[in-house]
Amino acid sequence: MDATEVIARLNDDLTGEVEAVLVYMNHHFVVPQHHTQLEMLEIALEEMHHIQQLAEVIVDLGGAPELTPRQIRFNGADVAGSLANGTMLETEAIDGYRRHIAEIDDPAIKRMLNRIMEEEELHFAKFSEMLADFEAAAAATAPTVGDLTGDGE
Ligand SMILES: [Fe+2]
Ligand SMILES: [Fe+2]
Repeated sequence: MDATEVIARLNDDLTGEVEAVLVYMNHHFVVPQHHTQLEMLEIALEEMHHIQQLAEVIVDLGGAPELTPRQIRFNGADVAGSLANGTMLETEAIDGYRRHIAEIDDPAIKRMLNRIMEEEELHFAKFSEMLADFEAAAAATAPTVGDLTGDGE
């Protein structure tokens, strides 16, 4: 695979990282009342570090980093929806990295992509865990039939 093809794949990954930073920062700002917003900020900062690593290699290879996201899938101010959206973005990222690790020959680039992919797996696990916790908490406080009819009092 020549440098142009490697650059194209790294730019694919890079645009996904830019989308992730923006989507997670959006979550951080629109649900300030919920504790997940701090974890979202932390994860957004890790995605920014992925941007830096990918962009540096792209520049080293003689390419131009593509920092305009190809799409931005914001998910509003709904905590559960945002967390589910995060698991979707992470799944896409993991699939992309896995594919590119298999396609790219350069061992140093493969290692870098593998390290990033492992962090995406941790992000996926974190979002899944936060989503499960959020849903359990919501179920625990959900009104019962008794609450709704007044029979429970
Ligand atoms: Fe990332
Ligand atoms: Fe991630």
